[in-house]
Amino acid sequence: MRSGTSLFIETLQGNAAAVPPIWFMRQAGRYLPEYRAVRAEAGGFLDLCYNPDKATAVTMQPIDRYDLDAAILFADILLVPQALGMKLWFETGEGPKLSPPIAEALKTDHLSVDGIHDTLGPVYESVAQIRAALPDDKALIGFAGAPWTVATYMLAGAGSKDPSALRRTAYEHPEVFWDVIDKVSEATTQYLFRQIAAGANAVMLFDSWAAGLPEAFFRKACLAPVKKIYGALKAAHPDIPLIAFPRGAGPLYPDIAALDCVDGVSIDSGIPAGYAAEAIAPHAVVQGGLDQLLLLKGGDEMYDAAEALLTHFKGKPYIFNTGHGLIPETPPENVGKLVEFIRTGKRT
Ligand code: CP3
Repeated sequence: MRSGTSLFIETLQGNAAAVPPIWFMRQAGRYLPEYRAVRAEAGGFLDLCYNPDKATAVTMQPIDRYDLDAAILFADILLVPQALGMKLWFETGEGPKLSPPIAEALKTDHLSVDGIHDTLGPVYESVAQIRAALPDDKALIGFAGAPWTVATYMLAGAGSKDPSALRRTAYEHPEVFWDVIDKVSEATTQYLFRQIAAGANAVMLFDSWAAGLPEAFFRKACLAPVKKIYGALKAAHPDIPLIAFPRGAGPLYPDIAALDCVDGVSIDSGIPAGYAAEAIAPHAVVQGGLDQLLLLKGGDEMYDAAEALLTHFKGKPYIFNTGHGLIPETPPENVGKLVEFIRTGKRT
C-alpha cells in the first residue's frame, strides 16, 4: 500500500464509507495535557513550529490518543508572512502580532518570496518526519492559510475584530493590497509544493475570515487566489486531494466547491447540513460542520448533532470534523466519546 492510501483519501476520491473518516481542526493543541507539556519544553509556540522533532511529537498525540484517520501538520498559517519578511511573535493571552502592519506602513517592498524556504525549511522536515511516523493507513494533511485570511493579519498586524473591514485597504490602496495577495499566493503555492514533495497526502487552505465579504470582493480576494494556488498544485499532482475552507462564506460555498481543482470543502457550523448535502456535495466532498463548542459539555446534545450530520450525509462521501478548531477548554474525554459514538453508535 502506498503511504497515505487511507479511508480519508478514498473518501476525498468520492467513495462513501459506512463509517466516515474522522479528524478535528486544532486536534493537536492546548486542550491536550501532553501538548502543553511539549510546548513548555519547546519554550514558545513558534519554537515548537520550527522544531521538527517536537512538531512531529505533537502532531502524533491526537492520532495516538484517538486513532484518528488523518494527522494535520503542526505549524501555523502565519509562518508564511514571517518567511516573506514580517516580524512575527505571539503574546500570551493576546494572540499573534505582525510588524509593521501593512495597512499602516502602506508599503510592501520589504516582502520577498525569494528565500522563503530558508525560514520554512524546518516545516518540510516536520512533514517528512510525520509521514515516516504515521501508519500507512493514516493520511497526512499539509496546509496553509488562504491569501485573504493571511493578508488580514498582515494588514492589521494582529487578529482583527472585524477582518472583513480590511477590504477598505483594498479599495483605498489597491496597489498595496493586491501586491500582498500576489506575494502570499506565490509563497503559498511554493510552500504547498514543498509540503507535497516532503510527503503530505492532501492539502487544506484555511480561509478563516471569508465571512461578510461582498460577492465581487469575495470572488477576487478569496475564490481567485484559491483557484490559482490549487490550479497549479492540481496540474502537477492530480492525485493529491485539495480541500478548501471558506469559513463563513454562506451561499458562496458552492462556487468554491464547483472549482475543478477543489476536491473537498470544509463547512462551518453555520451551514445547514441539508443545504450542504444538496448544494455542496454534488460538487465536492463535504467535511466538517459539527459545532466545536458542543464538545465542551458533551452528552446528548453533542451526540444528536453528530447523528444529524451522519444522517444527512448517509450514502455520500463525508469526512467527520468540527466547523472550526477545538478550543483549549475542550475536555479531552469528550473528543474520545465523540469518536467512539461515530464509529460504534454508542453514547457513553
Ligand atoms: O491541529 C491543528 O489543527 C494543526 C495546527 C494548526 C495551528 N494553527 C496550531 C496553533 C493549524 C492548522 C492552524 C491554522 C491557523 N492559525 C488558522 C486557521 C484556522 C483557524 O483557527 O481559523 C489561523 C487563523 C491561525 C492563526 C493563529 N495561530 C491564531 C489566531 C492563534 C492564536 C489563537 C490561539 O488559539 O491561541 C494561533 C496560535 C496557534 N496555532 C495555537 C495552535 C495549537 C495555540 C498556540 C499555543 O500553544 O499557545
